[in-house]
Amino acid sequence: MIMKAVIVCASVSHGNTRRVADVMGRILSARVVEPGEVDPAELADCDLVGFGSGIFSGRFHPQLREFVRSVPQTERGRAFVFATSGLPEPGFRPFTRPLERGLEQKGFEVVGTFSCRGFDTWLPFKLVGGINKTRPDADDLAAARAFAERLAVSTALSLSDCSDDHQTCG
Ligand SMILES: Cc1cc2nc3c(=O)[nH]c(=O)nc-3n(C[C@H](O)[C@H](O)[C@H](O)COP(=O)(O)O)c2cc1C
Repeated sequence: MIMKAVIVCASVSHGNTRRVADVMGRILSARVVEPGEVDPAELADCDLVGFGSGIFSGRFHPQLREFVRSVPQTERGRAFVFATSGLPEPGFRPFTRPLERGLEQKGFEVVGTFSCRGFDTWLPFKLVGGINKTRPDADDLAAARAFAERLAVSTALSLSDCSDDHQTCG
């Protein structure tokens, strides 16, 4: 069975998250779109939907959060969340958690999260020319590729389970 996947990505600062999204999109054969380029209702027939952006003041970009708020609540397929950020995700308060919860409330099954560092010119880092100047780098993109490969396998397996069920119910 061929899976249908879409990646919704808001990458407004340096294109850091878009580079990660494009790598994942190639593995998952997924269209990569900005929040304004897809009708939220269109996601209903997707097997897998990715949601990603940079992190701004500890949160995903407002365009992405607003898009998720506008998605109608219904039973849905699988979802994953990804981010690039200047600083590592704090273990005590992961910045991916609120978006995961929001997606679950919309009916998605959140099956994975990915984050890596990105070039960051947020003040005060701007004063020193920014931090993480070369990131996401080749290692980050290799990790994103491996993450997407695992998702592709697990989603294909879950879809073949469904078709087995159909055959049984016949
Ligand atoms: C205004 C602003 C606020 C930011 N806030 C944070 C933050 O709270 N935590 C963090 O780790 N990085 C922060 N960053 C860094 C971005 O998350 C990082 O550069 C990200 O890779 C940008 O992604 P993009 O190029 O895809 O938009 C901030 C950057 C800007 C410009």
